[in-house]
Amino acid sequence: MFQPTSKKILLTVLTACFVVQSGLVYSDDVDIELSEEAVRGRKLFHQYSCQVCHQLWGQGGFLGPDLTNAGSRVDEARLSSLLTYGSGQMPALHMSAGEIAALRAFLTEIDRPDIGRGELRLGDPSAGTTPQAAFETAIEAATPPPPVAVGFEAFRSGICSACHFPFQLSPVLAPDLSTAVERLDDAALRDVLVAGRPEKGMPPPVPAFGDDELEGVIAYFHWLNENRAQLRAGTNQRLSERDVAWSRLPWWEYK
Ligand code: HEC
Ligand code: HEC
Repeated sequence: MFQPTSKKILLTVLTACFVVQSGLVYSDDVDIELSEEAVRGRKLFHQYSCQVCHQLWGQGGFLGPDLTNAGSRVDEARLSSLLTYGSGQMPALHMSAGEIAALRAFLTEIDRPDIGRGELRLGDPSAGTTPQAAFETAIEAATPPPPVAVGFEAFRSGICSACHFPFQLSPVLAPDLSTAVERLDDAALRDVLVAGRPEKGMPPPVPAFGDDELEGVIAYFHWLNENRAQLRAGTNQRLSERDVAWSRLPWWEYK
């Protein structure tokens, strides 16, 4: 199919791509330089397969918590106890004092929030990385009054946020609901919340909202509108705190 010269050109192009790609991968600046002790700790981290259960910068297993910032969270006594006797599903590893010190050095030196933050995946509601999770955490932080909280829960337990995104028109053209009360009065809102607008892509909510939930969702929309600026700022701040400059992360596994 190909002429010999086009084969050569193709091969040259592919080889060039490979060389450039490899160059880019290996020339990434790494901002963390480990001490000798910490390098020993890193080795132990691999030998004991800590990463099977724990993440660093979000990479790894999920049985245990992310350890990216464990250096500042877990004190010496607790780390030593964990690595000796274990805890819950963390196995007893009976490590020596030297090994514990090396792992402590490793965990302390990689704990650099300016470079990357890990996420606690277990039991921490602020752990999500999506705009929706950041938005919901901002709402909880603003402690909505009881009727509003009922509406928020009703809204959140439905599939509403699959189509409605915070503070923007979503790809399926579902509007930002924090401005719904500027477009619709309560009666019109009630109509949409009961019957949907199937012809426009808004399905009737299933299961239907109960009376309290219906009034709660409407109260929630009013509250969202009144607190819009604050909630928006809170959401953006939570999102920016999670920004990770991927190219600056030291990819220990691949060096
Ligand atoms: C079989 C899975 C598993 C392995 C392997 C494992 N851990 Fe754990 N680890 C856990 C679990 C589960 C917890 C949570 C235990 C608890 O809170 O009671 C935990 C907790 C921890 C904590 C406390 C974290 C915090 O934020 O409180 C540290 C530190 C830790 N492990 C370090 C390590 C190191 C270092 C290794 C490797 C030498 C390792 N773990 C290997 C499952 C594991
Ligand atoms: C399948 C996607 C989808 C789902 C799921 C969905 N909506 Fe909608 N929704 C839409 C679309 C699209 C519109 C815009 C319809 C239009 O243009 O008239 C809309 C409009 C609305 C409106 C009117 C807003 C306005 O300003 O005109 C409200 C209120 C609303 N939805 C609430 C909800 C609630 C509450 C839920 C969860 C029970 C929900 N939606 C679930 C797609 C969806």
